[in-house]
Parts: sequence; structure tokens; C-alpha cells
Amino acid sequence: MWCLELLIPLLLIISDGNCQWNIWLPRDISAMTNSCVVIPCSFMYPSGIRPVRGIHGIWYYGQPYPQLFPPVVFKSLTDIVHESYKGRTKLLGDLNQRNCTLLIGNVGTEHSGRYYFRADIGGANKYSYPDFAELKVLDQPNIDIPEEIVSDESLELTCYAPDNCPDMTPEIQWMYTDYLPDPEFSSDSLEESNTAVISNTLTFTPRPMHNGQLLGCRVYYPNTTLVYERLISLDVKYSPRSVWVNVSSEVMEGSSVTLHCEVDSNPSPRISWRFGDQELLWDTASNISLFLDDVTPENEGIYTCVGDNGYGVMNTSMYLAVKYPPREPVVNDSMTVVEGTSLALHCNTMGSPAPTLTWLKDGQLAGSITAGELSVLEILEITPQQTGQYRCLVENEHGRASASLNITVEYAPVFLEESKCTVVREGVQCVCVAVGNPEPTIEFYLPDLNITINETDGRFNFYTHTDGHMSTAMIKLREKGERADNSGPAVNVHCSMSNIYGRESVLLELQQEKKYMMAVIVGTIGGVAVIAFIIAAVRYVGQNNKKENGNPRQDVVLENPALYYSAVKKDKQNLRKKVVRHDDVNDSDYIYRGVGRPFSECLGFIFCVVKKKYKTPF
Ligand SMILES: *[C@@H]1O[C@H](CO)[C@@H](O)[C@H](O)[C@H]1NC(C)=O
Ligand SMILES: *[C@@H]1O[C@H](CO)[C@@H](O)[C@H](O)[C@H]1NC(C)=O
Ligand SMILES: *[C@@H]1O[C@H](CO)[C@@H](O)[C@H](O)[C@H]1NC(C)=O
Ligand SMILES: *[C@@H]1O[C@H](CO)[C@@H](O)[C@H](O)[C@H]1NC(C)=O
Ligand SMILES: *[C@@H]1O[C@H](CO)[C@@H](O)[C@H](O)[C@H]1NC(C)=O
Ligand SMILES: *[C@@H]1O[C@H](CO)[C@@H](O)[C@H](O)[C@H]1NC(C)=O
Ligand SMILES: *[C@@H]1O[C@H](CO)[C@@H](O)[C@H](O)[C@H]1NC(C)=O
Ligand SMILES: *[C@@H]1O[C@H](CO)[C@@H](O)[C@H](O)[C@H]1NC(C)=O
Ligand SMILES: *[C@@H]1O[C@H](CO)[C@@H](O)[C@H](O)[C@H]1NC(C)=O
Repeated sequence: MWCLELLIPLLLIISDGNCQWNIWLPRDISAMTNSCVVIPCSFMYPSGIRPVRGIHGIWYYGQPYPQLFPPVVFKSLTDIVHESYKGRTKLLGDLNQRNCTLLIGNVGTEHSGRYYFRADIGGANKYSYPDFAELKVLDQPNIDIPEEIVSDESLELTCYAPDNCPDMTPEIQWMYTDYLPDPEFSSDSLEESNTAVISNTLTFTPRPMHNGQLLGCRVYYPNTTLVYERLISLDVKYSPRSVWVNVSSEVMEGSSVTLHCEVDSNPSPRISWRFGDQELLWDTASNISLFLDDVTPENEGIYTCVGDNGYGVMNTSMYLAVKYPPREPVVNDSMTVVEGTSLALHCNTMGSPAPTLTWLKDGQLAGSITAGELSVLEILEITPQQTGQYRCLVENEHGRASASLNITVEYAPVFLEESKCTVVREGVQCVCVAVGNPEPTIEFYLPDLNITINETDGRFNFYTHTDGHMSTAMIKLREKGERADNSGPAVNVHCSMSNIYGRESVLLELQQEKKYMMAVIVGTIGGVAVIAFIIAAVRYVGQNNKKENGNPRQDVVLENPALYYSAVKKDKQNLRKKVVRHDDVNDSDYIYRGVGRPFSECLGFIFCVVKKKYKTPF
């Protein structure tokens, strides 16, 4: 219980009646090591007591009661004190004035603790006050640091030093403030419960870069060697200010890749990798690595790393490109179409980088080369020559692939010039050759006899052969009908070919080939040449007759080449050119028209009758 007088010192003298054993001293007091401290102290004793031989007093350390033998800090009757206080303590107050103010000099940290006062008024009037002053001996100053330092918010840091040593006044300086933006300093001193503290406040606005920086407060006593320092490391909280990721990368399909992300923030963020709206991985750390194994094209896309530490959120994205060779293209199925049809052939593929797509027809470039995923080859009004293998070739720097389809064009039958009738020993032989798809069926019609001869008909030595899209048919007519004017055999043969797309009929007329040839030879070469020609013709006939009949891949062999008949019209020749096969052509397939022999065999003669050279599909 406190005296009213102590709280209001002015009333102290007036009031005395109810005062008991009371003491006033600061509850807490501090000092820097090796400096001094004055513990202010006043005490009261019951007013009824009259001091006999003056007032004495003892300061104890740790305990107030002598029977517990606490170390004696100061004793007014003798100078016997505990060893650690020898020469250090002095009573500044006048006990008779009830002033127990104590000076402790050259304090060390071992002197920290509770100090108790015991008054001896005389006789049995001895009293240990239970109240105490707790001394803290500091070897470094205190710094007041806010619990949370947030970037870009003004920060105040206060450094404190006790100022309870009368002859020495400390000074405070902030250290390592050079890098701070516009630091401000303000010093202050405050007195509380008769103890004094001086302070210096540093004000500045910390930035993320100041996180982890050192700051220091130095307390020193001028004209002494006493210096005290305290260093602190700034823990500046800041929202993620950078999210670093691999800018972009390319990776081959099937390989593995690590995407790395680092976030600069304090505290460490919740860091995550996102792909699309999927969170793939997260952690509470400053960095995170996303490992992708056996990468597929589906892994291509934008990856976003998000850092969120409660003070803010930030993200950065990167693009992962997955490279791969083109996939085997998808093309239309093989097809059979009718001449004149228009088609669009599709070739679909995928690849990275975008492949080039090339259409080849039987190995030759067809259409234009495009880049991307789709190429459409348009064929307008397809012709029989466009039958073939269409291949779509796709390639990029990582590989190539292809796929093909076959197109078969069907068309109505077309006659070939080889269709002819010739007079042979036994009669007349007629040959009819036509191409068409499906291969045409050939019939002969003899209007004079009003009969139709087809392959099931055995009467007329009907010979037929089909090879691919070409049909060859031959008949031999035994009767050699002579015409009234004796101009030649009166043979009237129609050839008729048909398939599902059409039917054509043509009259095979007899022609006097020998006369025609002779006219040419005589007109151009003259008498000597005639002899040479006759020799050639005789040799030719001889060789020709040795050949076997019925080998359609050779020329159709005529039994008597002297007469040559052709009924192929001019417009049919044009049609014929349209259907000539362009592939699988080699020299043996060329026929040199005229004497019906391969050109090479002709070369040994002085004269060779060659009307023109042309290809046939044989
Ligand atoms: C006690 O003594 C000290 C030292 O002489 C003095 O500074 C202080 O004012 C005194 N206290 C009172 C209450 O008189
Ligand atoms: C320190 O000493 C110098 C002279 O030696 C004196 O002028 C100055 O006032 C002293 N400073 C303090 C704070 O005692
Ligand atoms: C991303 O960066 C990290 C660290 O620099 C590296 O280890 C990793 O290989 C990089 N990944 C790619 C795909 O570049
Ligand atoms: C990544 O974070 C770990 C802790 O999660 C840390 O040990 C490592 O040093 C960090 N790496 C980098 C490059 O920051
Ligand atoms: C990344 O940040 C932008 C704004 O900076 C925001 O619009 C976007 O939604 C964020 N993305 C993710 C995945 O958080
Ligand atoms: C080829 O295939 C594509 C798509 O599959 C189709 O649109 C197109 O009509 C086909 N072309 C032909 C000629 O069938
Ligand atoms: C196309 O025809 C050729 C033979 O001419 C054959 O080898 C190939 O397999 C055919 N291709 C397709 C896709 O039918
Ligand atoms: C041909 O013969 C058929 C019967 O086989 C007959 O109908 C037709 O009238 C004959 N034509 C001529 C021109 O005799
Ligand atoms: C051949 O002709 C006969 C009658 O003229 C006919 O019945 C037969 O179907 C024909 N055959 C062919 C293959 O056209």
C-alpha cells in the first residue's frame, strides 16, 4: 500500500499520520555495461517511530532478508559489501531525509537483478521493503522493430539507450544507412518513473531490395571508449516482384524437359505451374521445377508460373513447343471413277514445324506444294491418262512420311488404228483393237450375211485377247468374195466394241496398201530405188511370215502384208491419243508403223518405208 504523499510529493510534509513502511523506487531501470546507474529511492516509516541514533540502511541484491544472506550492495554503518560491489557503490541520498538513492558504478551484466532496501530506524525498527528495482545491464542498445515490415510502407525504427548515469550522457547513431532512400533521424529523450531513456528514430520507406540488409545502432559515451552496437537484418515483406521462367523452349517429342520457375518475394510464395486451367504442381518455396517426361504434342502450349505470398500475386508464362516429324498422312481410299469426274483428294497430316505437303502422281509432281496440315489436290474432269498412283509426301526437318492411293479411270471404248482387214491366202483376216475400262467386248458384224460374231462363236476362227484395258479380236473369213468390178474382195465387216460406258461401231474397209506404197516410192525415189525396195519387201515378207500368229504384244501379224486395210477415222486417232498409257513404256513397246516391223530391224536396209513413229499401248 502506497502513501498518498509519495504519489503527490507536495503533500508529503503536511501529511504524516497514516504513513507506514513504504518505499518508492523504479520497478525497472537499465544501464549500459561499464557505465553507471543511479537508482532513485525514497522510503517511509511509520510516523510514530523516532530515530534514535540516525537512520541506517542496507541495499541487498536478490533478496531483501538478511537471514537469507543476500549479497550486500551497500551498507551505511560499515563499508563491508559483497566482493562484486566493492568500490562500485555509493549512497547519493541522505537517509535522514528518507532518501535512499544509490549509485552503482562500472556495472557489468552480472549486476543485473533485483535490488532491495532495508531501513534501520533504530532499535527493533528494522524493515526490509519487499518492493525492488530490477536492474538490467545491457551490452547493446535496444531497437524497437515493428512486427512486420512491409515494402513501400513508411517504417520507423527506434534505438534506445538508458540515461541513468549522471556524469555521462550517451549519444545514438544509426549505422549503414547510406543505401537507404531519404532516411530521416529524430532523437528524443523520455523520463518515466524517474528513469531516463534517450532514443533516436530512423524513418524511411523500405523497398524489396532492402530485405536482408543490415542496419545498426551505435550508442557511445563521448570522451570515453565506451561504444555499444546492435545490428539488425531487415525482414522486408514484399509481394512477388518477379517471376522468372524459361522464356520459351523447344523440345523433341519423346524427350523430357524441365521448366524452371523462380519467384522473388518475401516471404516465400505458394508457387505453382499451371497449364491451361490445370494446376500441375505447387510448393511453398522460392523456386519450382516442373519435369515433363516423354513429351507429346499434347504437352505443347502455354505454361504459367504463379507466385502468391499473401502480399500479392504475380505470374509469368512461357510457350513450350513440341517438335515432331510429320505423322503418316491420311489420304482418300483408292477409287475407281468415270472419265470426266472432278475430284478433290485430301491429304491430312500433323507435324511441327508445319510440314510441307506434296502430291505426286506416279512419282511426278502434281499440284502445288503447300505447308500446313491439309493439302487438297483438285482434279477437274479426269481423263484416262490420269489413272495412276497418287502419293502425298509430307516432310519437315525432323522426318518425312507418305501415303498413296490409286485412281482408276473408267471410260468408253476407243478404237486403235491397228484395226484393219487384210486379204490372206484363205480369205480375209480382220483385226479389231480397242481400249476401254472396263476392257471392251468386241463383236464383228457382217451385214451382207446378217450375222454377229462374238467370242462364244466358234465358226469364224474368232480369236480374242485382252490385256489390261486393251482388247484385241480377230476373225478369218474363208470365203474371198470378189466384187463385180474386180477391184478386190467384197468384204464388209463391222467391228463393234462396248463396255458399260458405251458402244462404238466402225466399218473395216479394204484398202489396197500395195498400190499406195508403190505410188509413194516411185514418186520419190525412182527406178533404182524400186529394185532395192522390192528386195527389202521380199526379205521382209519372208521374215514376217515366220512369226507366230496370236502374240498380241507384238504387232498383229498379217499373213499377207501386201494389202493393208485401215478403217480408223481421223477423229478416232485423236481419241486414241487420249488413252495412250504413259507408264511402263520401254523401247520394245514402240511400234514403227509402215511395214509393220520394229524400226531397228529396218535400219539395215537402204530404204525403209516409215510413215510415222508413234507409241501404242501394246
Ligand atoms: C535524493 O537524493 C538525490 C541525490 O542527491 C537527489 O538528486 C534527489 O533529488 C533526492 N530525492 C528527493 C526526493 O529529494
Ligand atoms: C569532451 O572533452 C572535451 C575536451 O576534452 C570537452 O570540450 C567536451 O565538452 C567533452 N564532451 C563531453 C560530452 O563531456
Ligand atoms: C529452364 O531453366 C533451368 C534453369 O536455368 C534449366 O535447368 C532448364 O534446363 C531450362 N529448361 C529449358 C526447357 O530450357
Ligand atoms: C530453390 O529452392 C530451394 C528450396 O526450396 C533452395 O534450396 C534452392 O537454393 C533454390 N534454388 C534457387 C536457384 O533459388
Ligand atoms: C496472370 O496475370 C494476369 C494479369 O496480370 C491475369 O489476367 C491472369 O489471369 C493471370 N493468370 C493466371 C493463370 O493466374
Ligand atoms: C477425300 O476425303 C475427303 C475427306 O475425308 C472428302 O471430303 C473428299 O470428298 C474425298 N474425296 C473423294 C474424291 O472422295
Ligand atoms: C496401287 O497400285 C499398286 C500397283 O499398281 C499397288 O502396289 C499399291 O499397293 C496400290 N496402292 C493402294 C493404296 O491401293
Ligand atoms: C437379220 O436377221 C434377223 C434375225 O436374225 C432379222 O430379224 C433381220 O430382219 C435380218 N436383217 C436383214 C437385213 O436381213
Ligand atoms: C454372243 O452372241 C450370242 C448370240 O448372238 C449371245 O447369246 C451371247 O451372249 C454372246 N456372247 C457375248 C460374250 O456377248
